[in-house]
Amino acid sequence: MPNPLRTLGYRVLNASLEDGRHGEEKVSPISRRGFMLLAASLSSCSAAAPLGDRATSPVKTPANANYRTPALSGPLPRNPDMAFSSDFSKSSGISFSRVLVSGNYIAMTFDDGPHPQNTPRLLDMLRARNVKATFFVIGRSVDLYPQVVRRTVAEGHEIGNHSHTHRLLSKLGDSELRLEMSRCADAVHRAAGVRIRTMRPPYGGLLQRQRELVHSEFGYPTILWSVDPLDWKRPGPGVVTSRILSGTTAGAIVLAHDLHAQTVDAMPATIDGLLRRGFKFVTVSQLLAMKTEPAAATAQITAPPPAY
Ligand code: NI
Repeated sequence: MPNPLRTLGYRVLNASLEDGRHGEEKVSPISRRGFMLLAASLSSCSAAAPLGDRATSPVKTPANANYRTPALSGPLPRNPDMAFSSDFSKSSGISFSRVLVSGNYIAMTFDDGPHPQNTPRLLDMLRARNVKATFFVIGRSVDLYPQVVRRTVAEGHEIGNHSHTHRLLSKLGDSELRLEMSRCADAVHRAAGVRIRTMRPPYGGLLQRQRELVHSEFGYPTILWSVDPLDWKRPGPGVVTSRILSGTTAGAIVLAHDLHAQTVDAMPATIDGLLRRGFKFVTVSQLLAMKTEPAAATAQITAPPPAY
């Protein structure tokens, strides 16, 4: 019988999830105010430049207390139970923005958490629909909110490495890059007892040479995205939903940010819409493990072939 953790995208460890090596007594390396300042500085994963005008317009990070899950007509759509392997081949690639698969599988990804209110609210929404997602977490926030990461893992989601302090990694030397990776990985291991297997660079910024370094030294493929709703600009939940629904195709990797209340507000309609269109949600590692050759995936391609 396969170890359930392997189907989620983790390296299996001797450490048990029940070993209780973290808890409320843990001393946080930065204060709550420090976290909010950090959160305010994280306006985007997807923009090439991390600073500029956005540095002067802080992002509101608290959960939206007025939000109510919209009433659904008909039964709540539910993702099927799927225990696919997550053992992808290291030779299958160094960078991915989508994956060629045979079937309507997609990976929903959430960056920049954990957040003490918005992430648990999102986890409730995912659990109600049996949807498994991948969370690219910031190590510094993991140290602040280990219990949120622990719950995320316990509920079947995958954790990915989004660096320790969310710096633009392409500006760093190799030793700093290694520290950003290892400190985040260690924080997740301390919090939830698992080894993460994929990474996403903040702002999508990672040089090819650096991608090869993290692949060879940490085993991480670099995970980018094929659908970007620009949710960090806070266009409103309806816009986030419509952008994701219109952009998602089989094999898609969808980018969103659980740091932002509006993004989480958009998720019930987004996820229900994707489920009703026949998409099935898997973790990033499961999607990578499904990678197929173009010939096997042609049945999924409905557009006419290019004229050359
Ligand atoms: Ni980010």
